[in-house]
Amino acid sequence: MKTQIVIIGSGPSGLLLGQLLTKSGIDNIILERSTPEHVLGRIRAGVLEEGFVQMMREAGVSERMDREGLPHGGFQIAFNGEIRRVDLHKFSNGKQVVVYGQTEVTKDLMDARLETKAQSIYEVENVEIHDVKKDTPYVTYEKDGAQHRIDCDYVAGCDGFHGVSRPTIPDSIRKEYEKIYPVGWLGVLSDTPPISEELIYGTSERGFLLCSMRSHTRSRYYVDVSLDEKVEDWSDERFWDELKSRLPEEVVGDLVTGPSIEKSIAPLRSFVTEPMQYGRLFLVGDAAHIVPPTGAKGLNLASSDVNYLYRIMLKVYKDNRPDAIDQYSELCLRRIWKAERFSWWMTSMLHHLSDNDFEKKIQASELDYFTSTEAGLRVISENYVGLPYEEVE
Ligand code: APR
Ligand code: PHB
Repeated sequence: MKTQIVIIGSGPSGLLLGQLLTKSGIDNIILERSTPEHVLGRIRAGVLEEGFVQMMREAGVSERMDREGLPHGGFQIAFNGEIRRVDLHKFSNGKQVVVYGQTEVTKDLMDARLETKAQSIYEVENVEIHDVKKDTPYVTYEKDGAQHRIDCDYVAGCDGFHGVSRPTIPDSIRKEYEKIYPVGWLGVLSDTPPISEELIYGTSERGFLLCSMRSHTRSRYYVDVSLDEKVEDWSDERFWDELKSRLPEEVVGDLVTGPSIEKSIAPLRSFVTEPMQYGRLFLVGDAAHIVPPTGAKGLNLASSDVNYLYRIMLKVYKDNRPDAIDQYSELCLRRIWKAERFSWWMTSMLHHLSDNDFEKKIQASELDYFTSTEAGLRVISENYVGLPYEEVE
């Protein structure tokens, strides 16, 4: 087989990139090791920056998101027994975010790909990437016991944190930066009305809390727990009691509890790979970087990389600019590191990560300053709605 771009991974990164390339007449094949059902079964956050929303519109996949997505012009931060609102609209010059679950994004992108007839091959095994330092890279894989080869011009590694793309970059070239946090997020999904129309992030004596949603009838709640906690030790009742113990008095009465339809504990990690490119191989999304979910950036960083790789590929194929690929890694990393900083900072402000009394006072002072001054609220807002994408040269 031959194509212009092989995309490894059919998560949000691979699907969004594939849809944009296909719409622009650039041929691509997606290789995915799981089944479509397994990909769709993943429960992930969905707070979309404006940049992501624009990418979905450009990809022609925004009809349901525009209809069902919930525009949010602000969110709330609960601490010290009070709740303060971050007016995103006011402090980001009129921008907002859209709450629309990643599962829905993935479904819309999968449905769109089926309509385009672009090729996606699921349940592949032993994907290997070859000759990316030459002009004729190729990818091999196994399917139903047979070995296959796809010759291509470029390879997009959209295969997530545990994929095959990142290790294809030699250890001698690849530098990895990582911070593991000593807590995880215990999350519950329930078909109950959200406690508030806006997200409520918070910190209390007992730890972090987040009240989020998927729709007006489906809520998503989190409390942070130590890494030795087991989800099977958390009954619904225990979870609801813990969340109530962390919520401010003024809202706890608004909480509607109900049976959990999903419950899990996710660890918190900051991670970046440099460079994000090796010859004709490009790392995209979780394959290159991970953020703690406190800044709601994971999905948005996938679309950040996709935006840059897509526009570079337009230069390569439409403007005959093969040199355009040289800027990919630096372009991505400039924006990635700013989002990594914001996600780390929100995590450090809202979690008990230190027993040091001085550091606890600094944390309380940071929260007070950044939620009570225009300068502070502007910093939070412009990072939460997403910093602008740079132009591709
Ligand atoms: N061969 C083929 N497919 C693979 C391989 C492989 N060797 N390894 C991984 N994959 C597939 C996975 O099965 C998965 O469907 O690549 C896909 C990677 O998808 P994600 O992990 O969702 O990563 P990405 O598309 O970058 O999306 C990032 O997803 O995990 C969330 O929080 C994250 O919101 C962020 C978003
Ligand atoms: C979620 O709705 O799952 C969610 C929202 C915001 C975050 C993290 C998770 O920062």
